Amino acid sequence: MSARQSPKRTVVTRDAAATRALAAELAVEARPGDLICLIGDLGAGKTQFAKGFGAGLGITDTIVSPSFVLMAEYRGRLPMFHIDLYRLRDAAEALAGGLVDERQAEGVTLVEWAERLADAMPEQRLEVVIDGTGDDPRRIEVRAGGAPYARYVAAVPATAEPGDDGVAEGNR
Ligand SMILES: Nc1ncnc2c1ncn2[C@@H]1O[C@H](COP(=O)(O)OP(=O)(O)OP(=O)(O)O)[C@@H](O)[C@H]1O
Ligand SMILES: [Mg+2]
Repeated sequence: MSARQSPKRTVVTRDAAATRALAAELAVEARPGDLICLIGDLGAGKTQFAKGFGAGLGITDTIVSPSFVLMAEYRGRLPMFHIDLYRLRDAAEALAGGLVDERQAEGVTLVEWAERLADAMPEQRLEVVIDGTGDDPRRIEVRAGGAPYARYVAAVPATAEPGDDGVAEGNR
């Protein structure tokens, strides 16, 4: 996919509340069947992002890390399905464990550690790559995998602190 078909934006958040606020803004764009892959190290802020996204969907239940169930479901403007693949050994285990569920077509699915499934994930998706841990600022890249997801990139607030777009890293 060419860079033109795969728009992205990179922003910096300086605390968890800013990451949640960004996610809540993006949730305005959520449509049934959307897939959002949350990628980043332990403690990067994937669950914080999911909490904010859920708040943006009007979910009032407390969103917690779905560590002991493969998939948690919440009710908001749309259903939100929250998956954590951290403990996953392989794709077969994920599929056996209910990773793909027909109800997901009606809601938006957020997947932590989505890179564990790599090529088994649908190409059409939004990728949110969070870089940084601890008290450090987070560099968050919002990347459309597929044209329909470009609207999320456009929804990144203009007021968000811009991050470098990885040009210097040369490999993105
Ligand atoms: N800018 C920031 N954005 C997000 N979280 C931040 C930020 N600054 C500090 N934090 C803190 O980092 C931690 C992120 O934890 P979180 O559970 O969201 O990470 P995670 O990526 O889901 O980790 P895991 O891989 O264990 O599921 C929280 O304690 C949060 O308060
Ligand atoms: Mg988490």
